[in-house]
Amino acid sequence: MPLVAYDILYSSGPGRDVAEKTCIHCHEANFLPRHQWAESQWSAAIDLMTSSGGIRGALIPPGTFSAEDRKTVRACLVKNFGTNSTRRALEVDVEMPLDEQALARAMYSEYDLPLDPKLDAENTQRRGQDPHFDNDGNVWYTDWSASLC
Ligand code: HEC
Repeated sequence: MPLVAYDILYSSGPGRDVAEKTCIHCHEANFLPRHQWAESQWSAAIDLMTSSGGIRGALIPPGTFSAEDRKTVRACLVKNFGTNSTRRALEVDVEMPLDEQALARAMYSEYDLPLDPKLDAENTQRRGQDPHFDNDGNVWYTDWSASLC
């Protein structure tokens, strides 16, 4: 798959600006380019993200996304990732800086999250996301399973 610079993957303009503060902010830069969709499909995706009817509520909260934002971001998505577009991904030419000394002291811990008996019996997995370590050694994370009850 061709790897291209950010400005080539996403043509600059007001649509990209809206995509950055909404879609890309949550989904990272390589998510949208994985789709080669018609306008109706992009529209349906925006509906899904703004709808309050889903299990997670509105992922783009009301009042943060105007009718104009919707129009410009949809046009940007159709232009860059329409049905005739070539599937491409972001070229990353700078390695993530790593502190090798700090990494050499790192420890990998894996935690088995117990299933919550309050949840549906068919819920056979429990996932944590975005762990955050506080100064007291506690680990805080978002519990995906909780949103399914
Ligand atoms: C607050 C974070 C957030 C924002 C902002 C957001 N999304 Fe999402 N998106 C999600 C999550 C979480 C899911 C998974 C939905 C679910 O499981 O209910 C999702 C699902 C999707 C899916 C379906 C993925 C699949 O294949 O099942 C598409 C397409 C999508 N988003 C596109 C967009 C677009 C386009 C925008 C911007 C207009 C956007 N998203 C903005 C968080 C976000």
